[in-house]
Amino acid sequence: PSRRGTFPVEVVGLFTASRGSLAGAVDLARARAELEATGRFDARHPLRTDMTPLEASRNLDYDVLVELSPLAIEARGEPAVSHIASALARGRHVVTANKGPVAFAYRKLAALAETQGVRFLFESSVMDGAPLFNMARVALRGCRVEAFAGILNGTTNAILCHMERGGSLEEGIAAAQAAGIAEADPSHDVDGWDGAAKTAALANVLMEADVTPFDVERRGIGSVSVGEVRRALAAGRRLKLVCRACRREGAIQTSVAVEEVAADDPFSLVDAYGAILRIETDLMHPLVLTQEGPEVMDTAYGVLNDLMEIAGTAERKGEEP
Ligand code: HSE
Repeated sequence: PSRRGTFPVEVVGLFTASRGSLAGAVDLARARAELEATGRFDARHPLRTDMTPLEASRNLDYDVLVELSPLAIEARGEPAVSHIASALARGRHVVTANKGPVAFAYRKLAALAETQGVRFLFESSVMDGAPLFNMARVALRGCRVEAFAGILNGTTNAILCHMERGGSLEEGIAAAQAAGIAEADPSHDVDGWDGAAKTAALANVLMEADVTPFDVERRGIGSVSVGEVRRALAAGRRLKLVCRACRREGAIQTSVAVEEVAADDPFSLVDAYGAILRIETDLMHPLVLTQEGPEVMDTAYGVLNDLMEIAGTAERKGEEP
């Protein structure tokens, strides 16, 4: 939340790089004791502070800000963008699973991190912990990403699968909400906003684009009928919401749209909440990364992986993170 007032602070521990690994380095008792010693926390669980999150990011002592608020389209990624900027400006590392800051302010935040000599990492912002930003950063070093295409929104994919079985859009939304996969406002899934944010985030990071979700040509699944879905299926094809970006005449074009996918296309194999990303580079043949049935642990792993990357970087420099 951005409002002033009491808000819960979930203390999961203090992380140190001193053991060479984060595993076993979580010290909840020490975290609570240090926070309570500031006098601005009470001893109840969860710990509470009277600071706003922005004040907390500016004033508390911490090594890494882990930012996990949901995507805010209308607010252009705020307040997460400001929280992250304030931590980076103080020379603190940031890990986020929120695609908003990467989709709306990647250049600014990455430049700030670089100036301050700290890391800004966001592996879980697209396809959870599936190592796509890690892959781009390390394994695709020296390649230029020319294009990508992906099924990146689990909710709409699961809804389209449900409609193939004759179910309604509304039932599909309810199931995605029950599974905890839908956005807080599920119209952000259905209307393609989540897909547009992931497309913008990937284009900004992988292709050095400077776009926001508002620049992505976007058509959601709201006007797709059960009849259309089932006619495609009867013809051996599946309807999928596909996110795309490609370089064309010096610019990067981005889109999210429903496409008919042939049965022998790997995109056709993506069921339920799964995801897929196909990347084209200048030096290699296309690469495809698929993710089957992600759950919350997949998201948590991406955050842990980012924290371990920061711990590893600090260790290589011979300092605490
Ligand atoms: N609402 C998103 C989805 C959650 O359905 O894919 C993961 O970003």
